[in-house]
Amino acid sequence: MQEKNLKIIVDAGALQIRIKELGQIISEDYAGKNLLVLGVLKGAFIFMADLVRAIEVPLALDFIQVSSYGKGSSSSGEIILKSAPTIDLAGRDVLLVEDIVDSGLTIQWLINHFSCQGANSVKVCALIDKGERRVLPVHIDYCGFYIAQGFLVGYGLDMNEQYRSLPAISHLRPSP
Ligand code: PRP
Repeated sequence: MQEKNLKIIVDAGALQIRIKELGQIISEDYAGKNLLVLGVLKGAFIFMADLVRAIEVPLALDFIQVSSYGKGSSSSGEIILKSAPTIDLAGRDVLLVEDIVDSGLTIQWLINHFSCQGANSVKVCALIDKGERRVLPVHIDYCGFYIAQGFLVGYGLDMNEQYRSLPAISHLRPSP
């Protein structure tokens, strides 16, 4: 049941169309490479599941989890790697998969961290590039959607761990 305070902005059909397009582009770019798709938990888990099925070249996959410490809902850029990859990155072409890049602090930290671990390359695929609170001008190699503003939930994105399972991405409007 759709809650009244949710407004769908990217529906399930549009998500699948865009993810298929991303999968095609990534498949072309990574042909003949040693692709390791590295999902950032928890938010990326649904996007990651659909994305890897849209990629048509051989790949390995793994997950990491990070914590960031900051005031309220904003990140300080102080990142802790709570769960590291189980696969050795040496010689791999690493594709970091995020649900959302907001301030950019998390993904920049991850790029820096994993670029020092012997990978051939480290690139970024983010479902949503959200410009509203950008602090660092990070480069997103593969972007699903640019969304300027608003609090987003669904398709992996949460508010206090709620709404992740919704099939579409919605703006969460403040309760009246
Ligand atoms: C979200 C998202 C990114 C990060 C982006 O994770 O998945 O990892 O925030 O924010 P930034 O660009 O401002 O650094 P979150 O900390 O909400 O954890 P979750 O994925 O478990 O929901």
